[in-house]
Amino acid sequence: MSTGSCPVDHAAAAAGCPVSPRASAFDPFGPEYQADPPAAVRWSRDEEPVFYSPRLGYWVVTRYDDVKAVFRDNTTFSPSIALEKITPVSAEATATLAKYGYAMDRTLVNEDEPEHMPRRRVLMHPFTPEQLVHHEPMVRRLTREYVDRFVDAGKADLVDEMLWEVPLTVALHFLGVPEEDMATLREYSIAHTVNTWGRPSPEEQVAVAENVGKFWQYAGTVLDKLRQDPSGHGWIPYSIRAQREHPDVITDSYLHSIMMAGIVAAHETTANAAANAIKLLLENRSVWEEICADPGLIPHAVEECLRHSGSVAAWRRLVTRDTTVGGVPIPRGAKLLIVNSSANRDERHFDHPDEVDLRRDNATDHLTFGYGSHQCLGKNLARMELQIFLDELTRRLPHLELVPDQEFTYVPNTSFRGPEHLWVQWDPAANPERADPSIAELRRPVRIGEPSKRGVARTVTVVSVERAAEDVVEVALAATDGKPLPRWSPGAHVDLQLGELSRQYSLCGDPAEAGTYRIAVLKDPDSRGGSRYVHENLRPGTTLSLRGPRNHFRLDPTARHYVFVAGGIGITPIIAMADHVKAAGGSYELHYCGRDTTAMALLDRCRRDHGDRLHVHTSADGTRLDVAALLANPAEGTQIYACGPERLLDALAEASAHWPDDALHVEHFTTTQQVLDPAVEHGFDVDLADSGLTVRVAADQTVLAALRAAGVDVPSDCEEGLCGTCEVPVLDGEVDHRDVVLTKAERAAGTRMMTCCSRACGDRITLRL
Ligand code: HEM
Ligand code: FES
Repeated sequence: MSTGSCPVDHAAAAAGCPVSPRASAFDPFGPEYQADPPAAVRWSRDEEPVFYSPRLGYWVVTRYDDVKAVFRDNTTFSPSIALEKITPVSAEATATLAKYGYAMDRTLVNEDEPEHMPRRRVLMHPFTPEQLVHHEPMVRRLTREYVDRFVDAGKADLVDEMLWEVPLTVALHFLGVPEEDMATLREYSIAHTVNTWGRPSPEEQVAVAENVGKFWQYAGTVLDKLRQDPSGHGWIPYSIRAQREHPDVITDSYLHSIMMAGIVAAHETTANAAANAIKLLLENRSVWEEICADPGLIPHAVEECLRHSGSVAAWRRLVTRDTTVGGVPIPRGAKLLIVNSSANRDERHFDHPDEVDLRRDNATDHLTFGYGSHQCLGKNLARMELQIFLDELTRRLPHLELVPDQEFTYVPNTSFRGPEHLWVQWDPAANPERADPSIAELRRPVRIGEPSKRGVARTVTVVSVERAAEDVVEVALAATDGKPLPRWSPGAHVDLQLGELSRQYSLCGDPAEAGTYRIAVLKDPDSRGGSRYVHENLRPGTTLSLRGPRNHFRLDPTARHYVFVAGGIGITPIIAMADHVKAAGGSYELHYCGRDTTAMALLDRCRRDHGDRLHVHTSADGTRLDVAALLANPAEGTQIYACGPERLLDALAEASAHWPDDALHVEHFTTTQQVLDPAVEHGFDVDLADSGLTVRVAADQTVLAALRAAGVDVPSDCEEGLCGTCEVPVLDGEVDHRDVVLTKAERAAGTRMMTCCSRACGDRITLRL
C-alpha cells in the first residue's frame, strides 16, 4: 500500500535504505495511531524524531521544538498542502467531483505569502474579543436548550445529543449562514474530512466524492444568496463586504472555498475538541470534581484538555527549499506531517505530559491551534464554546460519569480526532437543580482568550523548616488539600507568593518523593524581602500560594557526560540533576563551590549520594575551582549545567567559549524567547491618544509588556512578530519595525505597528489606544 517511494537514492547510499523498520511500519490509518496518536509515535519522539514514512510518502515530525520551528517558518514550510487530499483520488472519484464543478482552492489556512497575510488581516475583525463577546449569549442559549433535552434522561450519547450540533449551529451563526439542513451538513462535513485527511477505499471514494460535491454546490448556493444581501451579521457577509474594498485580496475563488472549508474549520474541530475534553475529564474523575468544586478552573481545564487531547492531531506543510528539520536534511518538494498532538506530549517541553494538571504552568504553549502566521483565527470562539459546555455540564450534572466499558471509535484520518460517540450516565434523581431550580439558571463568566500564561496558583502548607547550612533553611511544602503535588523534572522551579512579593526557587528534593516539594533558601543580606520573609515568617502549618512547577533549565538526556557546577545556593537545581543522572546510570561530575563548608547547603546529602563524583571547592581551604582548567578540553557529547552567582557563570561562559555553542546551560528563571539587550536597545515613551496616558517602555521591555503593565490590554498570540494579532494604529513618531507581518509599503507609511516586537526609533511614539 505504499503511496510514496523512499526519497534516498539506494544505489548511492552506501549503508542501504536509511528508513528504519519502525518508520517503514508507521501507519497513521492503523488502529494504534487512530486510538492515540501521541502514544503511537512515542517511539519516534524518543528515538527518531524526524523520519520518512514510505507508506504515507511524508516526512513525519514529532518533537515540540521541531514542530514549532516548522509552524514558525511559513516560507520554507509552505502551508499550501494543508487541505490537499492525503490519499490519491481515483479517476472515478475525480470524475464525480468534476460533475459538481468542485474547485476547492486556496482559503487562508493553505495560502502562501504574500497573499495570505493581507487577507488574514482584512478578515480578522470578527474574531477580535470585542466582537466575540456578542456570540456568548447565543452559545449559552443553545447549550442550555440541548442540555434541557436530556438532563432528566439519565443516559445520553453526548456527541449525538449535543456536542455535534451545538458547534455546528454556532459555526453557522458565526459565519452568518442559515441553520437549515443541519443533518445533511453533518454528513457533508464528515465526507470532507475523509476526502481530505482519510484513506477511503476506492468504492468509498466515490460515495465520499458525491457528498463533497454536494457540499461544494451547497456552499455556492448559500454564497449566492448572501451576496444578494450581505448586510447581515457573520464572517461571510463581512468578507463579501470586504471584497468590495479589497477585490484583489478577497477573490471569488477564496469566498467559495472558505464558505465550505470554514464550516468544517469552525465546526468539526470544536465538536471533536469538546468530546475529547469531556471524555478526558471524566476519565480523570478527581480533575472533573475539582472543576465542579471550583469553576474558576474551567478556562485552565479547557487549555489542558486542548494540550492533552486536542482535536487536530497533525497538520501538513510542503518543503520549498533544501533544509533541515531537527538536524535531519529534508529535500525541497518533501511533504511534512507535523504531529502537533505528539508535540503537545513531548516531555522535553511539558513535564509528565501524559498527566492532566489543571494548574500546569505552560499548558497554553500547546500547538493544537498551530502557531505563527496561520495560527487558528477561531481559537477564542472555540475556547468560549468549550468553557460554556464545561460550565453547564459540571454545574447541572456534576455526577455525570462515562458508561463503563464502551469502545471509542474514530473516523480514520490523520488529522481530525474525536470519538464518534460518547455515552455518559447519571442518576437524574440526584440532579442538583431538582433541589434548587436556580442552579440551572446560573451563568458563570466566560474568559475570552487564553487563560493567564502564569497558570493558577495552588495552596500549599509548610510541612517543615530546617536549618540546612549557615543562613540557609530547607523548607518542605505539601498541598493543603492533601492531594499529591504534580511530579516535576530536575531543573524545575516554583513561584512562591511571599506577602506582596513573588519569588522563584528551584526544587531540590527527590522528584520521586510524591507529594512534597523542597526548596532551600539562603538569607541574603541584600534581600529585597523574599529570603527574609522565608526565614522570618515560615513555620510548619503556614499556608502559601505557589505557581508552577515550571522548567526552563532542562537536562538534555542524550549527553554522554555531564559537568555539573554549583556555586553556593545554586546547588538546589544542580543536586536534583545530579541525582537524576546518577539514578539513570549516566556519567557525571559534580563541582560544588562555596566560601566554606559551613555555608554550603545540602553538602551532607551531596557527600552521601555522590561520593567521589563530588568535588568540593572552597575559598577558605584554598581549593577554589579552576574554571579554565576544568573546561580546557572540549569533549564531544559533554554538557555543562551551572547555577550560581553571576561571577561564576560569566567565568564558565568565558572558559567554554571554544566549546560547541550549546554545551553550557545556565539557569534562567524566565523564558528566553524574547531577550532584549538593554545595552543595545533604548527606552522611550508611548503616548496613548485615546486614553491620554503616557507609558514608559524600558530598554529591556516590549511595547506590549509595557502597555499591559499599565493596564492597557492589547491582544497577542505569537509575541514574535509573526501573526498580526498585536497590531495597533500609530499616529505619530517613527517606528523601528521588526515584524514579518507588514508589507514594505505599510512599514514606510508608518501608521501601524506590531507591539510585541517593534519599537520607537526615537524618544516617543503616539498610538491610537
Ligand atoms: C487554522 C485548529 C476552531 C477558523 C487552524 C489551524 C489549526 C486549527 C491547527 C492551522 C494553524 C497553522 O497552520 O498554524 C483548530 C482547533 C479548533 C479550531 C483545534 C477547535 C478546538 C476554529 C474555529 C474557527 C476556526 C471555531 C472559526 C470560527 C480557522 C481559520 C484558520 C484556522 C480561519 C486559518 C488561519 C490562517 O491560516 O491564517 N485551526 N481550529 N478554527 N482556523 Fe481553527
Ligand atoms: Fe503575533 Fe505580535 S505579531 S503577537
